[in-house]
Amino acid sequence: MANQPTLLVTGASGNLGRRATELLLEAKAGKIIAGTRDPSKLADLAAKGAEVRKIDFDDPALAEALKGVDRLLLISTDALDKPGRRLAQHQAAITASKKAGVSHIVYTSMPKPEPGSPIPFAPDHYGTEQALEQSGIGWTVLRNGWYQENLFHSLPQVLASGKWFSAAGDGKVAHVSREDAAYAAAAALAAQPNGNSRYDITGAELLTTKEIAKLASEATGKPIEVVSVSDEQLTQGMIAAGMPAFLAPVFASFDTNTRAGNIAIASDAVQKLTGR
Ligand SMILES: NC(=O)c1ccc[n+]([C@@H]2O[C@H](COP(=O)([O-])OP(=O)(O)OC[C@H]3O[C@@H](n4cnc5c(N)ncnc54)[C@H](OP(=O)(O)O)[C@@H]3O)[C@@H](O)[C@H]2O)c1
Repeated sequence: MANQPTLLVTGASGNLGRRATELLLEAKAGKIIAGTRDPSKLADLAAKGAEVRKIDFDDPALAEALKGVDRLLLISTDALDKPGRRLAQHQAAITASKKAGVSHIVYTSMPKPEPGSPIPFAPDHYGTEQALEQSGIGWTVLRNGWYQENLFHSLPQVLASGKWFSAAGDGKVAHVSREDAAYAAAAALAAQPNGNSRYDITGAELLTTKEIAKLASEATGKPIEVVSVSDEQLTQGMIAAGMPAFLAPVFASFDTNTRAGNIAIASDAVQKLTGR
């Protein structure tokens, strides 16, 4: 279509990327390209009208694959196995975008990633934000808060035992649904860029662990006792419960971060971007 922008979503087979691509197709926001390492997974998006393209940040020929793209939704990867690997992937994506002539990048970051964050992967996001600022490409940074869906990983165990071991103290979180994050990402990519912008993508209500436990308890009819533990006790408890030793400190750091007040952010950005 004439004057319609070409919009590419990376990681389009992931939860967030797939949903954002569907929303862009529904909104007829432009020519929509679904980028993924494995195009065979995206027959459903192709059937809905997306061009499917192989996009892998580890591919040295990435700039070729980004040719003709006006705006890019750069979804942070899940490569947390080696420190620095994910940042290197994002930097490669930004360098390739520059080479390919992409004019604007929307990036999914995290709240407060600045140095000093207790979250081990915060430097990936901070480094990517810095790379965008220095790239000369226009950018929109979406600092996605924790998805409420994350709770569905931990709550079954909490409900089964009746105990929620927490090091978060009275720290608060405004979880956002992944659906709202997808709407925000699609809207940010579809919008005609007006300079560079940074948004905190959060839910509307700040809640402590005890308040979330109370809601879960009311919804399920099962009692939940929140048991305060130290970061170290939480880490060891998760390892004892079967979590891999390298992952337990990452999950424990979420509580450290909450206790420090780093994630106590409730913004109206989802509503501003999407009208939802
Ligand atoms: N805020 C939160 O609570 C929270 C929770 C979980 C994750 N996250 C972050 O948000 C991102 C999206 O969440 P999600 O739920 O959609 O995660 P997900 O379903 O696990 O998706 C992982 C994504 O990483 C992409 N990816 C991996 N290696 C890549 C590479 N070499 N080049 C390009 N893309 C690559 C995958 O794309 P393809 O497989 O299509 O290539 C996929 O989109 C995650 O990757 C993670 O960084 C945030």
